[in-house]
Amino acid sequence: MPTDAPRDTPLLQIVDLHVSVDGAEILKGVDLEVGPGEVHALMGPNGAGKSTLAATLLGHPSYEVTSGAIRFLGEDITGWPTDVRGKAGLFLAFQYPEAIGGVSVIQFLRQAISARTGQEDLSVLEVRLSMGEWMERLGMDPTFAERHLNEGFSGGEKKRNEILQMALLDPVVAVLDETDSGLDIDALRVVGRGVRTVREAHPELGVLVVTHYQRLLDELVPDRVHLLVDGRVVESGGPELAQRVESGGYDQWR
Ligand SMILES: Nc1ncnc2c1ncn2[C@@H]1O[C@H](COP(=O)(O)OP(=O)(O)OP(=O)(O)O)[C@@H](O)[C@H]1O
Ligand SMILES: [Mg+2]
Repeated sequence: MPTDAPRDTPLLQIVDLHVSVDGAEILKGVDLEVGPGEVHALMGPNGAGKSTLAATLLGHPSYEVTSGAIRFLGEDITGWPTDVRGKAGLFLAFQYPEAIGGVSVIQFLRQAISARTGQEDLSVLEVRLSMGEWMERLGMDPTFAERHLNEGFSGGEKKRNEILQMALLDPVVAVLDETDSGLDIDALRVVGRGVRTVREAHPELGVLVVTHYQRLLDELVPDRVHLLVDGRVVESGGPELAQRVESGGYDQWR
């Protein structure tokens, strides 16, 4: 833990969060709490506001928090800029979605780790060593490190890259929005197994994963499942809630 917050403080607390985009209210009072070592899944129909919540957690400037708060390790981070959130240990997997011309995976990771740890003199060799170790654990091809970031990456490779980032950055909470990218079964497995592997090394890690798919949750068994419908959490429960969604769809909550 990077701070001296008491042990029973939730890692992430979302309190009565209202968020507007271009003046339209999308989130209408969301409450959610992620504790140490917990995996929470956020499900809900298209347009419910799941990615809006993820983008708001990231601190995206287009998303205006009109009331409520986001607390991280007990601190109100609602007004914090994205990079400060990242440095504090809030990891958002969709943070760098585009190809960045000419930057290799290893160069990018070195930069990201320096930003997170404040270590400016981090050598390429050190990064290469810890990267190599993690790539082996995650079953990744060693040549991947030299590839240019996201250039021609398949859905599965993008996901591997995100999981690798997460493993090396050692975040306090990881938010993974799995809705829009890499929907094939390979990519889902990469995420599910990757998060499991990272949790074995970092058991305190809190995870909030947005997904439509029970398949991901078969790999990454959530402690809690939350259903977001029209900007509100309409029900929370255990993994059986995801199964109810899978078999009956969202109609029963609309
Ligand atoms: N930048 C934006 N500008 C205008 N409207 C937006 C913007 N972002 C989100 N919205 C609107 O907010 C609503 C919620 O969108 P959001 O992407 O959060 O849904 P979602 O639950 O992630 O859906 P999906 O399951 O399709 O990924 C939608 O009606 C969407 O059109
Ligand atoms: Mg979405």
